[in-house]
Amino acid sequence: AGAAATGLVALPLSACEARNSLFSADGAGANPLAIPKLDQGIVEQGERVFRLSISAGQKEFAPGVASPTIGVNAPYLGPTLEMRRGERVRLHVDNGLDEGATVHWHGFELPAAADGGPHQLIRPGSRWSPSFEVRQRASLYWYHSHLHRGTGPQVYAGLAAPIYVRDDEEEALDLPSEYGVDDIPLIVQDRLLDSSGRIHYPQNMHAQMMGVRGDRIYVNGTQNAVFDARTGLLRLRILNGSNARFYEFSLAEGRAMQLIASDGGLLDRPHTVRSLKLAPGERAQVIVDLSEGGPLSLVATSPDSAMGMMGGQGRGTVGGGMMNRRREDGETGEVFRILDIRLSRALRATRLPLRLVSLNAPDPSLAMRTRRLVLDMGMMGRGMTINGAAMDMDIVNERVPVGQWEIWEIANASMMAHPFHIHNAQFRVIDRDGRAPPPLETGFKDTVIVNPREQVRVLLRFEEYTDPDLPYMYHCHILEHEDAGMMGQFLVVNS
Ligand code: C2O
Ligand code: CU
Ligand code: CU
Repeated sequence: AGAAATGLVALPLSACEARNSLFSADGAGANPLAIPKLDQGIVEQGERVFRLSISAGQKEFAPGVASPTIGVNAPYLGPTLEMRRGERVRLHVDNGLDEGATVHWHGFELPAAADGGPHQLIRPGSRWSPSFEVRQRASLYWYHSHLHRGTGPQVYAGLAAPIYVRDDEEEALDLPSEYGVDDIPLIVQDRLLDSSGRIHYPQNMHAQMMGVRGDRIYVNGTQNAVFDARTGLLRLRILNGSNARFYEFSLAEGRAMQLIASDGGLLDRPHTVRSLKLAPGERAQVIVDLSEGGPLSLVATSPDSAMGMMGGQGRGTVGGGMMNRRREDGETGEVFRILDIRLSRALRATRLPLRLVSLNAPDPSLAMRTRRLVLDMGMMGRGMTINGAAMDMDIVNERVPVGQWEIWEIANASMMAHPFHIHNAQFRVIDRDGRAPPPLETGFKDTVIVNPREQVRVLLRFEEYTDPDLPYMYHCHILEHEDAGMMGQFLVVNS
């Protein structure tokens, strides 16, 4: 009913429509996509300075019903921070909540004191002012709460937002880059509403084990979002900002997208893809060509919870299993409408460059050592661990020599896929169970899916040695797993 009511798009996935509770859930029609305000800070004494104020807010997730939220300079979510590679930034973060909070700059390589992990607690009413040099390549990064044992609920309430890093190399390519016009961030998040229509964060065994998954999808806080395109090429920067849900994005009618970037920057060239899987924490950038006409819908499928448990939010690498095969047959079928793209007139597209940046293949022979990390959930999710240990703020799990290449071999001993994230790093994926990674994993990554019983090898090196006693984190980016202990700490040490 929701699809028809918009009058815009006949969703060609009618077989699945009946199972989709989403775009007909509240009878709301199409809503203009909210686009976070762009915040370029103010340059003062050689630093780009941002002022961020965390506060409690309210937002309607169902029409007419306000839910309590957390936002940064906004009632929910926050501004897109824009910065340039090579410049120094300073962020004044005020915590106006009546609980502690932290703000982590996900994807950044920076001094541990500026990282915003669980050790950089900002007490209620106080300010934290980290400063660092932006060393990242141009890409989409994000900032979010990293409160010890409280990341899940704070991110769920809204403490998350995008960061755009720009650089000369990317600008020379002339890709779509006009913010909010032909370059738009899409923060994709699912939320669960209670019977009164307020967002609900379940805290029970099942929610901890599976992660909190909602049945409504919001993009930048908008449900049933519509965007009016004015250019022939549209660049979508997709962030899976959900606590636990994996998505496989595609364009309705099987139209192709050009994948141009992963977490930490551009790929070697645009790769034609028809679908794109992102786990929580992961990002991707695609270019959609609108010159073939429209309208166009970005949709997603997602494994349901039982399937997620059984297996392999699947890059097709998990061995056997009936549940698995059912998934691959498309049995889980729920199709979420993410974004409708509307065209008011025919649009002409310019050509994309054939090459983007030069990327060497990762060379494992550079590595001085291999470090193995085994992710596990224990019985019924009661033992969320890495190498048998749950996160302990007082224990440093790994000491990694500065400046040396290492292979991290991440193995998943559980029955559920985990997105593994490493702070202070942009790594390269070497292989998955010995097999070459898909296009999205041929570039720089900071978060990587590890399927059940699978082993992923990544190559990385830490260049920062600034706060020798302050640890960085590595963890599962299913926030409930992270909060329950699937996280460890490492120090970058002088070798
Ligand atoms: Cu996106 Cu340690 O987090
Ligand atoms: Cu991070
Ligand atoms: Cu996990």
